[in-house]
Amino acid sequence: MTIRLNVNNEKQTLNVDPEKPLLWVLREDLDLTGAKYGCGAGLCGACTVHVDGVAVRSCVTPVASCIGSEITTIEGLSADGEHPLQRAWVEGNVMQCGYCQPGQLMNAAALLSKNPQPSVEQIRSVMQGNICRCGTYPRIEAAIKKVAGENIENASESE
Ligand code: FES
Repeated sequence: MTIRLNVNNEKQTLNVDPEKPLLWVLREDLDLTGAKYGCGAGLCGACTVHVDGVAVRSCVTPVASCIGSEITTIEGLSADGEHPLQRAWVEGNVMQCGYCQPGQLMNAAALLSKNPQPSVEQIRSVMQGNICRCGTYPRIEAAIKKVAGENIENASESE
């Protein structure tokens, strides 16, 4: 079936099975390998991308359900790796093996775009479904809190 997608602000026309998971369309058909295969059941978050700004588990999302939507992957989160979260990730030396981190970043980015100043409880609630086998959770939380703090400062400066 011919499917048209909008991925990272680029239009794509593909001939794929409509039931094919978005993750595999991204990785195999579009060569966007940032989103990772973890559990294949929507349970670990390694495959997280945005569909219309919402964090979704691409391993359990049929590609046909994304027709007409804006899909953003880690490759499209920022033009130059300068998203505030990406900067905080680097500054905080968050990554260990790195496998889960694209999903962590995409989930955190969706949180902050909806709620720029989340509480610690809100951060933990949203991020708890993204598993990190290396246990980088404290650094992930610190990086999100750093950006949330910057957002609070920026908001008060513009008042
Ligand atoms: Fe290794 Fe998270 S950094 S799984």
